[in-house]
Amino acid sequence: MAQNNIQSTLMENRQFPPCESFYKTATLTPKNLDALYAKAAEDHEAFWGDLAKQEIDWIKPFTKVLDDSNAPFYKWFVDGEMNVSYNCLDKQLAENADKTAIIFEGEPGDVQHITYRELHQKVCVFANALKAQGVTKGDRVVIYMPMISEAIIAMQACARIGAIHSVVFGGFSAGALKDRIEDTQAKVMITADGGHRGGKTIPLKNTADQALSDGCETIQTVIVFKRCGNDITMQQGRDIWWHDAEQGQSTDCKAEPMRASDPLFLLYTSGSTGTPKGIQHSSAGYLLNAITTMRWVFDIQEKDVFWCTADVGWVTGHTYVTYGPLATGATMVVYEGVPTVPDAGRFWDICSRHGVTIFYTAPTAIRALMKAGDDIPRRYDLSHLRLLGSVGEPINPEAWMWYHRVIGQERCPIVDTWWQTETGAHMIAPVPAVTVTKPGSCTRALPGIDAAVVDEQGQEIETNQGGYLVIRKPWPAMIQTIWGDDQRYKDTYWPYFDGKYYLAGDSARRDEEGYFWIMGRIDDVLNVSGHRLGTMEIESALAAHPAVAEAAVVGKPHDIKGESIFAYVVLKAERPENGIDDEMTNELRAWVAKQIGAIAKPDDIRYADNLPKTRSGKIMRRLLRAIAKGEEITQDTSTLENESILLQLQGKA
Ligand code: WT7
Repeated sequence: MAQNNIQSTLMENRQFPPCESFYKTATLTPKNLDALYAKAAEDHEAFWGDLAKQEIDWIKPFTKVLDDSNAPFYKWFVDGEMNVSYNCLDKQLAENADKTAIIFEGEPGDVQHITYRELHQKVCVFANALKAQGVTKGDRVVIYMPMISEAIIAMQACARIGAIHSVVFGGFSAGALKDRIEDTQAKVMITADGGHRGGKTIPLKNTADQALSDGCETIQTVIVFKRCGNDITMQQGRDIWWHDAEQGQSTDCKAEPMRASDPLFLLYTSGSTGTPKGIQHSSAGYLLNAITTMRWVFDIQEKDVFWCTADVGWVTGHTYVTYGPLATGATMVVYEGVPTVPDAGRFWDICSRHGVTIFYTAPTAIRALMKAGDDIPRRYDLSHLRLLGSVGEPINPEAWMWYHRVIGQERCPIVDTWWQTETGAHMIAPVPAVTVTKPGSCTRALPGIDAAVVDEQGQEIETNQGGYLVIRKPWPAMIQTIWGDDQRYKDTYWPYFDGKYYLAGDSARRDEEGYFWIMGRIDDVLNVSGHRLGTMEIESALAAHPAVAEAAVVGKPHDIKGESIFAYVVLKAERPENGIDDEMTNELRAWVAKQIGAIAKPDDIRYADNLPKTRSGKIMRRLLRAIAKGEEITQDTSTLENESILLQLQGKA
């Protein structure tokens, strides 16, 4: 299993103990962290049960912590009732009503501060507007919005009335949006005329119109927030402006009592097949781990200004933008745009102007900003920062060191957080005042999280050997199922080990001190700029083009994106001369952007007469990966029908 990845990280032996100034004020000290581990080890259920009582305001208290009678469909706090939005907003009104909840900054530079009182009112008004449009408990609402406060308001409003939101990232195409709407059978869509990104106006409403133009029959209403004032068409009887929908709505809206395991949201993510999966999350268990990790990993405190740069289109933007910070009464920054507008100093400018103390971003952004040079961050006052975080893919030690030295000024601990859409919240991550960090390692599992690296039989593997990353006990924020497909949920996450361990889909090793080092995916899933993309999804998009007979997609290491997308294509017509056809390549790239979204565009396309397959007809992906990397071919290629294909695939013929 990925031996070369082990080799490259084995060399890393730098260690960074937590600094003393941090330690003095931290939420979790070594002593109370040890106590948490001890308690979790002694009684897993009592551990989480007590935290759930402490951290969540219940409408009706639960009497049972974990129902495992229908494993792997684990239900936490089953008979309890609560409301997530109440726990994020109403709970703060008593003491924190005038505290700033959101500092919003648009890409063009507009800034807006929203207090908890104001946010509560806005959410109530919009929740009432949703009700007036016929949305009731259990209905699905698709949200396709720019990264603005209203996206958070829309999600919170759904949570308040018990509607299940499904946010679709604004970079996804009409086709991808349509597939997700149809899978959720949503009644209402919430969008905006446009959003500001990369100095351009992203025409969200136009894309939404395309998605709805064929199919999506369940959508009755489209609510449109006016953000950019770009030209759009409003379809009579279907489309309504956000501000019109809010007309006359009251600022009172009772939070709907929800059962602990009622779905809070669906979020689609890629797997190893062609169709994305709707990951279904619970209400109480999900919220609990959003809260515990805000405290344990981010050490969130009264005066912090927290900024997670993720878009609400991804799980990071759910847990560490919409839910975790609000449920812990934090002040957070929300930024609409990209890190490079007007220049590569934008993030540092925002940190300095808004006094950001905790900053959480992805390695791909760190690498891109590192490339822009040290001079840029040095122009800004980063002295408020006290903690830095990383998520989405393994952070390479070089980027880690830069983040530590130039951004953290050797003062800020770095928390490299391993988790997934399915896990709902951080699982393996440092506790900043306690854990000695090592560049490239996400360190240890958090209290109450039983992570391990095992072999095929489920036995823990020797030190520094690669194996399957698994979670051996259920945890509160765990995935509940795949929307509408219980069987796929079982098959994907519980296929081995008698269905007792959750299979994360990553390979990992543990070092002498038990630290986890994530090595990569075990399935055909790519990680491009921290976003998960299924190779099969891109392959089926390519194969849907009328000129394409067959396609295979693999990942190739890329110094900024982590992985880039490399496609091998067999055309129906003859192979272009020397395997070069720029026009076709441009066309196919645009085609994939249209089918899925710009993030899925292949970086390289190579044409061949056919694809290398095993005797049983499986595409030899390992061979294709080696070719993409330009490596020496060591695989047995005797099954290739035609050896000259190898030269074609290598771009040598
Ligand atoms: C996959 C999950 C979790 C929010 C963002 C991505 C990879 C994530 C790390 C990390 C190494 C990481 C894994 C995981 N991953 N964080 N700190 N170190 N790898 O969510 O799209 O569900 O992807 O991202 O491969 O399985 P996602």
